[in-house]
Parts: sequence; structure tokens; C-alpha cells
Amino acid sequence: MRNQPAVTALLPAAGRGERFGSEQNKILSDLLGRPILAWTLEAFAQCDDITRIVLVGSEGDSDRLWELGDQYAKGKLQAVVLGGSTRQESVRRGLDAVGTEYVLVHDAARCCITTELISEAVGATRIHQAMTVVRTVTDTLMRRSGELVDRKDLMAVETPQGFQTDLLRRAHLSARTEGFIATDDASLLRRLGRGVHLLESTTPNPKITYAADLLIAVALLTARTAPQLVAPLPSE
Ligand code: C5P
Repeated sequence: MRNQPAVTALLPAAGRGERFGSEQNKILSDLLGRPILAWTLEAFAQCDDITRIVLVGSEGDSDRLWELGDQYAKGKLQAVVLGGSTRQESVRRGLDAVGTEYVLVHDAARCCITTELISEAVGATRIHQAMTVVRTVTDTLMRRSGELVDRKDLMAVETPQGFQTDLLRRAHLSARTEGFIATDDASLLRRLGRGVHLLESTTPNPKITYAADLLIAVALLTARTAPQLVAPLPSE
């Protein structure tokens, strides 16, 4: 691993979290005694495959984000960048601070990320130059019109998503020039005809969107940090 090109974790954390229903940025809300973002930062800080961390935050949060970096990022926090009005714009701005060959973009709000999944994502990025974590869809799905969609054809697209950094920069530039907006980064490469490796995961990695999602995060993080407090899961 020592001779491998370095990898920056780029964590967009500048969302307003309107669906969460809190005055402050949701990633600063409490989760088991520390801010949601602290869990995300710690996972990336503990992963040896990650060299540096770039945080993208909202105006007014910068001091707090640096403080959390000092506390949880083990000296890996390199920059706190001011975000934009969309996730895509926030990532684009964050990319300006990335100086490594590879970048792993991960929603700061997915705070149950494990170091194991981060390492798998880095490995896949080095091999394929572009990857995303995906998950099999288990619900029955339909359009708002009522038409059913066959879930066999669908996957939920999550983060982390890893890229050769210049490849992602070019995809962002092209999207911006042509006014294309997506809710993730892999889509920006795919629209240019670039293949994106799919890393299927069964490790729960929910994005905290609604306040009730915190209950799921509490269970997942407690299972990891104090497994004696939760019933054992059936072995697979
Ligand atoms: O809005 P959404 O849930 O898709 O946000 C995913 C991630 O992107 C969150 O961590 C959020 O803080 C971040 N984000 C951002 N800038 C925005 C909107 C969202 O950094 N303008």
C-alpha cells in the first residue's frame, strides 16, 4: 500500500437538510453523543487507504468543521471548502482542493460507513478508475403514475464513489458547461460514455435524510461500538 498513489476523501457536507427539519446543518446534529459528521470523519481517518480529507461545508459552519477535523480526522483534514447550492456544485468546488491521483467522494450524511467498505472502494477505484457502491433494491417499486417498475432491472446508487481525479474533474467541467445536473458523480462520467464499476454492498450505509433515520444509525453504530447492547444478527 505504501507505493500506491494517494487517495483523498472528498466529503460534501454543505446540504441544508430541509427534510431533516433542524435549524442547523443536519450533519452537526447529535448522534450518540457527537455530531453525525464526527462518525463519518472518524471512519475515513481510521482507514489507512485514505491519505487526506477535504470537507465541503456551508458558510458559517467552517470553524465548527475545522474543530471536528481536529478532534476526529487524525491530522488528515486538509481543507474546508465553501459549498454551492447543489451537491454537484459542492463536489466541483471541493475537487479544486484535491491534489491526489484518486478521489473518493462520500456523502457526509452517510455516517455509518465502515473502514472495510472504504478500503474495498479504494481498491476498486485503483483497478477501474471509476466506481460506485450500489445496493440491490428490495422494495416493490412503481412510478407516481402507478406503473410498476421491475426491481430486477434497478439498483440503488450510494456512496462512496471513487475516481481517477482528473477524470472526475473533466466530467464536472463538461456537465457544468452543458447545464447537466445529477445527484451523484458517477452519473456525470456515464453520460460521457465512460464505464463505472459497480461495487455491490450489503453493508447498510443509509443517508441520514429524515430525523427518524437517526434511529437506524443508532442501531448500526451501537452494533459496531457496543455489540453487547444489541441482539446478535443471524449469521449469513
Ligand atoms: O441533498 P443530499 O441528501 O443528496 O445530500 C447528500 C450529501 O451532499 C450530504 O452530505 C449533503 O450535506 C451534501 N450536500 C452538499 N451541498 C449541497 C447539497 C448537499 O454538500 N448543496
